[in-house]
Amino acid sequence: MKENVNRNKLKIIIIIGKDLTQKTIEYMVKHRMREYGENKKDFENNEKDSIFFFLKDGTIIKAFGMLKPVTLYCDAKQYEIMGIGNIMAVEKSKWYGTILMKHIIDYLDNNGYVGMGGTDNPNFTFYEKCGFIFITKLLERFVYVDENTKEHRPEAWDDKMFIFDKNNKLQELIKSNGDIIIKVPLW
Ligand SMILES: CC(C)(COP(=O)(O)OP(=O)(O)OC[C@H]1O[C@@H](n2cnc3c(N)ncnc32)[C@H](O)[C@@H]1OP(=O)(O)O)[C@@H](O)C(=O)NCCC(=O)NCCS
Repeated sequence: MKENVNRNKLKIIIIIGKDLTQKTIEYMVKHRMREYGENKKDFENNEKDSIFFFLKDGTIIKAFGMLKPVTLYCDAKQYEIMGIGNIMAVEKSKWYGTILMKHIIDYLDNNGYVGMGGTDNPNFTFYEKCGFIFITKLLERFVYVDENTKEHRPEAWDDKMFIFDKNNKLQELIKSNGDIIIKVPLW
């Protein structure tokens, strides 16, 4: 199957969330519905500053993903990261996911960003093969504090956080045991 993918024909398109067309949003929502049976992402209202990546073969989107600027607060310090989310290969096992993630890693690297995402077991191998490092006992420390100062802790205990942090900007945060406060829900 993989031999059929002509990598030279593939191109990556990067779009800021506020510039997404309705058609593109509908495409992502359709595929999220197909994959998960639901879509909890509000692309129009909550992802205006997020950076979207579309891997295209001609005009057809084969994979997509998003980086969301997020501030983490821990031990009286704050850390700017890019939350990795909304990753999907429309056709599976044809390397579209891997090629997409290579572009996303290059983008993080070129801009000196730290990338961080959460996922569950079937995807651990995929992200490891893409070059991400899984950090144990990190997800459990996240606390989303909403506008009413109500605290929400993650419920998906099977998930693990993976990171791209070439310059070790998160080392102190990882070593600490403190809560990691976010003011947006986990992405
Ligand atoms: C996860 C996902 C993006 C992977 O994309 P893909 O294009 O199918 O993956 P690739 O073809 O690039 O796979 C590369 C390697 O990753 C591993 N891999 C990919 N998907 C895997 C899975 N579901 N389980 C275990 N390993 C997997 C394989 O080792 C694969 O190599 P191989 O085919 O030579 O064995 C895709 O399966 C997907 O869209 N899943 C549904 C949405 C989702 O879960 N997104 C991630 C949210 S955090």
